Amino acid sequence: MKYTWSVAQELMRMNPPVFGGFKKVVKDTSFGGFDIPKGWQVFWVATVTHMEKNIFLDPERFDPSRFMGRSKSFLPFSYIPFTAGPHVCPGNEFARIEVLLILHHLIINYSWSEMVFDEPITRNPLPYPAKGLPIKLHRLEK
Ligand code: HEM
Repeated sequence: MKYTWSVAQELMRMNPPVFGGFKKVVKDTSFGGFDIPKGWQVFWVATVTHMEKNIFLDPERFDPSRFMGRSKSFLPFSYIPFTAGPHVCPGNEFARIEVLLILHHLIINYSWSEMVFDEPITRNPLPYPAKGLPIKLHRLEK
């Protein structure tokens, strides 16, 4: 289950389910050489830090092991599929249980086969299988 969650974390790093969102600036701020006045709206985008090579080494490589035992060493607010701070997704622990349960049962009890060979990937706005990735599930004999 620990490894399964690392796989899910790595998937959410490379393909965050929530692309980004708006935040209201609550006090005059400077960031990256820009002065941002109180009251402005800013738009955060998860992949900006998720694919930053100074934070995630070799960011294009799918590597669940980067989340194994070391997740706390990433800079705060750099891994943000659920965002962070006062409005962090309150469902994040529940989402973790759902993801782990579904993956566990699909992997333990079924084999899968693709129904659309070489399905193209579109943007929706994140990368998404053009036909919704239909698969056939075959129940494994126990
Ligand atoms: C993989 C699954 C999920 C992802 C990636 C996700 C991601 C997010 C993100 C990025 C936000 C925006 C937070 C912000 O504005 O800073 C959010 C907010 C929220 N999420 Fe989730 N979420 C997931 C599952 C869930 C589930 C299962 C629930 C409830 C059972 C939930 C309930 C909420 C609520 C109520 C908010 C609004 C929080 C606020 O504005 O204070 N989410 N989520």
